[in-house]
Amino acid sequence: MGAVLRNPKVWIVLLCLLPLVRLIVLGVGGGLGANPIEFITHSTGTWTLVGLLVILSVTPLRQLTGRADLVRYRRMLGLFTFFYACLHFVTYLWLDQFFDPAAIARDIVKRPFITVGFTAFVLLIPLAATSTHAMMRRLGRRWQLLHRLIYLIAVLGIIHYLWLVKKDLTDPLVYGGVLVLLLGLRLPLGVALLRAIRGRWVPAGS
Ligand code: HEM
Repeated sequence: MGAVLRNPKVWIVLLCLLPLVRLIVLGVGGGLGANPIEFITHSTGTWTLVGLLVILSVTPLRQLTGRADLVRYRRMLGLFTFFYACLHFVTYLWLDQFFDPAAIARDIVKRPFITVGFTAFVLLIPLAATSTHAMMRRLGRRWQLLHRLIYLIAVLGIIHYLWLVKKDLTDPLVYGGVLVLLLGLRLPLGVALLRAIRGRWVPAGS
């Protein structure tokens, strides 16, 4: 038991399941508010976006801490993000559109924020499908190129959010700011900054 609890993957799985458990507990207890569909859509959408940002923070965190093993958790984070994106999409298909293919197709074409969200979701599918080690080996360099789609997906996620908000843009702008920061930290200047910060913390040679 002790060994299980010392495994960071166990804690990450438990943490990633929390939003789902929260929705179930609130759902069973009638705590989803006056509009449960809206509540579930907003919650799953938010956690998909948070997941994307967490995935994008792995590389800067690795550079900052020098812990190469952080990459090992990225695949699991990616799959949980895809899971929440699926819940988000299924909530829309089922509770918002009642699985009506014509209404869904119309909505995807007509409402720009749905078009963008749908594009982001479709782009996530090949990333989830190729997330295994076997696929990584099989695709080689092409795997890395394919998985760069994560940047575009995150940008589309922010545009989707900005477009759907009617009045107060604060939340999507804050998420957008975090994304700009995380992308900036991948540029040469950002990498140099992270190295400089790490250099101050960690004595040379360690
Ligand atoms: C990577 C893909 C996606 C991300 C990151 C994402 C993210 C979000 C976020 C952050 C919200 C707002 C949450 C809030 O207000 O607190 C949201 C709302 C919403 N999303 Fe998505 N979404 C994605 C894909 C989709 C897809 C594929 C659809 C449907 C085709 C969709 C339909 C909606 C709808 C209907 C809302 C609520 C709009 C409203 O309140 O009027 N999203 N999404």
